[in-house]
Amino acid sequence: MSAASMNTVDLLARRRRRLGADLSLSYRAPLTIVRGSGAHLYDADGRAYLDLVNNVAHVGHAHPRVVEAAARQKALLETNTRYLHPLILDYADRLTATLPAGLDVVHLVNSGSEANEFALRMARTVTGRRDVAALESGYHGNTSGLVDISPYKFDGPGGSGRPASTHVAPLPDPYRGRHSGDGPRPGTTEGRVQAHPYLADLEAVLTAAADDGHPVGAFFMESAPGSAGQVVPPPGYVSGAFEVARAAGALAIADEVQVGLGRVGSHWWAFEVDGAMPDIVTMGKPLGNGHPLGAVVTTRAVADAFANGMEYFNTFGGNPVSAAVGIAVLDVIEEEGLRARALESGARFVAGLRELAGRHQAIGDVRGLGLFLGVVLVRDRATREPATELAAAVVEGALAHGILLSADGPDHEVLKIKPPLVITEADVDRTIETLDLLLAELA
Ligand SMILES: Cc1ncc(COP(=O)(O)O)c(C=O)c1O
Repeated sequence: MSAASMNTVDLLARRRRRLGADLSLSYRAPLTIVRGSGAHLYDADGRAYLDLVNNVAHVGHAHPRVVEAAARQKALLETNTRYLHPLILDYADRLTATLPAGLDVVHLVNSGSEANEFALRMARTVTGRRDVAALESGYHGNTSGLVDISPYKFDGPGGSGRPASTHVAPLPDPYRGRHSGDGPRPGTTEGRVQAHPYLADLEAVLTAAADDGHPVGAFFMESAPGSAGQVVPPPGYVSGAFEVARAAGALAIADEVQVGLGRVGSHWWAFEVDGAMPDIVTMGKPLGNGHPLGAVVTTRAVADAFANGMEYFNTFGGNPVSAAVGIAVLDVIEEEGLRARALESGARFVAGLRELAGRHQAIGDVRGLGLFLGVVLVRDRATREPATELAAAVVEGALAHGILLSADGPDHEVLKIKPPLVITEADVDRTIETLDLLLAELA
C-alpha cells in the first residue's frame, strides 16, 4: 500500500463519501490499523497498540494456526450444509463437548446477530408466543428484530422506544441497581447484594405480560451484561432467572456472544459460573477469531419441536472453512491453556485495579469475570454519579500511551477490558501503571 493510500485525511474523506454515516470510528483522531499480532494492533506507521478492546481476536490477532486452517480448507472446498462433510460434525462435537450435557444440537451461523435471530425464531416457533423479555441496557444484535429486544438500542440515540411486545426486567447490577441499597465500598461488590429482589422483579414483569394476554416466549440475557457496563449479577441470579423464565413458559436464552468460549476463565461459558442451565445458547464473536462464525446450541427437545417442516437454510453458515477455523480456535485455547491464562491475567488485573481504587476516588467499582472486566468511574463516590467525561478522557489518554480501551455502560462511564486471552503479565502491569498516571492527571 502506498503512503498516499494510508493518508488519514484522505481515508476519512473517502469513507465519508462512500460509507454510511451510521458507522462509527473510535477516537478523536481515528487510527488506521493495518496489522494485528497476538494482543497488539499496528498502525500504518508501524506503531504498536496493546489491544484491550477486541474480544473477537480471542486467541490473538492473526493466530498462525487459525490462518493456516482457514487457508488450507479454503483451497479445498467452501460450500453449504446440503452436502455431507465431516468437518461440520467434528466441530459440532467439539463445541458441544464444552457445554453441559443436554445442550447438544448445533446450528452454525455467521454472526452473533444471526445466532440471536435464529434463537428468537426458535423460541417463537416452539412456544407459539411472540413476546420477549430482556434486561435493561441489553444488546443482542443489529437486525430489526433484535433491535426491538435490545433496550441499549431502542432506548438509545435514534431509537424509537420499547415495542409493546418487549418486556424489560431491571438490571441486577450490584453497584447501581435498584436493590443495591447503600451498596458496597469501591471495588468490593461481590456477594453483598442478594439475587432474590431482582428475581422477583423479573417474575413480576413476566406475570404482568401474561396477565395482559401477551405471555413471553423467550427470555434473553447475557450472564455478565456487557453493554450495561460489564455487570456481574449477584450469585443465584442467572440460574434463578432461567428458572423463573421457564416457570412462566418461556425459553431461557443465554447470549454468550461476547462473554463465551473461555473468556471467564473458570468455565467455558459465563452461565456456568452460576450453575445455570439455559434452553438455548447463542455464540459469535470469538468462535472464529475474526472469521464470521456463530452458533446456536440447544436441546434435542427444542430442536425437534422447532423442525416443523420449514427448512432452515443459511448459505454460508456451517461451511467447511468456518468449521475448520472453529476447530483451530478450540485447539489453540486448549493447547495454549488460554482459559487458565484468562483466569490468571484477570486476577492480576483485578488486584491491580483494586489497589488503584484504594488511591483514586474516581474508581467507584471494579468488577468482572476472568478477562471480561469493568472499571466504573464516578464523579462522587457517595452519589455514584457517573464520570462520563473522565472515562472518555482516560480512553483518549490511554491511546497516547499506546493502549486501546473503550467505555460503555448506560452513561459510558465504565472502562471495558476484554483483550485477546494471550495478554501477558507485563501487558497487565503496564495497563495498571498507565491508568494510575492518567487518573492522577485527569480526575
Ligand atoms: C451480547 C451480544 N449479542 C449479540 C451481538 C451481535 O453480534 P454481531 O455483531 O456478531 O452480529 C453482540 C455484538 O456486539 C453482543 O455484544
